[in-house]
Amino acid sequence: MPAPESFEACFALAPTVAAEAPGRVNLIGEHTDYNGGCVLPVAIEPVLRLWLRYREDRRVRGHSREQGPAEATLDSPRDGSWLDYPRGIALQLIAAGRIPERGFDLFVASELPAGAGLSSSAALEVACGAGLAAAAGGPLRDSELPELAQLCRLAEREFVGVPCGIMDPYVIACAQPGRATLLDCDSMRAKQLELPAGLEVCIIDTGERRGLRDGDYRARQEECEAARCAAAEFLGRPLERLCAVLPRELGACEAALEPGLYRRLRHVVRENARVAEFATASAAGDLPALAALMYASHASLRDDYQVSWSRADFVVERARDVPGVFGARMTGAGFGGCVVALVRGADLEPLASAFEAKFKAPLLRWNSRPVAGARVLSLRSVA
Ligand code: GLA
Repeated sequence: MPAPESFEACFALAPTVAAEAPGRVNLIGEHTDYNGGCVLPVAIEPVLRLWLRYREDRRVRGHSREQGPAEATLDSPRDGSWLDYPRGIALQLIAAGRIPERGFDLFVASELPAGAGLSSSAALEVACGAGLAAAAGGPLRDSELPELAQLCRLAEREFVGVPCGIMDPYVIACAQPGRATLLDCDSMRAKQLELPAGLEVCIIDTGERRGLRDGDYRARQEECEAARCAAAEFLGRPLERLCAVLPRELGACEAALEPGLYRRLRHVVRENARVAEFATASAAGDLPALAALMYASHASLRDDYQVSWSRADFVVERARDVPGVFGARMTGAGFGGCVVALVRGADLEPLASAFEAKFKAPLLRWNSRPVAGARVLSLRSVA
């Protein structure tokens, strides 16, 4: 039987709200958000769309065009299905007093590949949160979007069980078209940056899949916490976040920390410094500097943080020799997913052929201009 193509086909009634949210790639600042550092992501196409309608009871019925049906209630514990994300954000919005305590029906159609490191789960949470809020009291104002992002982060940590940072929901909720978002995850101050003219963001999907629920991401956070405690003790001052270690203090820390932990620390501190350098180079239109920073970020993620994977290493290494590529690096948590490259008229065909010959797998790729964050598409009063 073919999958139903619409909300009406699944639930027999019309939806009251539709919302959409983009994916994201991070240009630089990887594994810095949960360490209180800076990140520089952009919202990208393709997007995820959803349609919903509140119910009178506490049931939550979902149908994902890509992942199929799922059903639960507002009260049942997480069950590992994709519906955990919508239920998680609904529970946060209820607890915050933003929406009524009612179940809902939800239809999702996503062009964003799941598990590709493009934040399809944050897109689902943000779109669902924006849709539920709009159906309850009208669309959120721009000034309320950072709070929605925080609630999505809490939903993922407390309900879904993934200890993610703020980067993904923030950029997916708050991005502006044509801009990258420079976010300080400690002060939560954000700045919108324009990339040098004509430079496009190329997303290269290596086809390798591994999700955040798999445990490696949590393991890195635990190592960062151990590094923070060890560095604070050695430096003799309280460190509320690992990014509070200064680059010039790294040398001194090396002798005090166990070598594995020191490498994690070195990645986080240097990566955080690279974000500011990238923003400066971008404003100056200094493409060689941007490229050098992206390659340095990748090497650090590969060697010090150890979250890269062989397909990504291959793509990044080959990208260096392609005219019109101004930097490439793995993006997102790692262990699978995508490489991001900055390109201007680059021909990636030969690289893709070499990849396909080596890994016997296609290398999907597309360019995206930075797009706007989530939005509510249509609204009728709740029946
Ligand atoms: C995932 C998380 C983010 C961030 C990145 C790594 O995408 O959801 O919060 O930690 O990994 O930079």
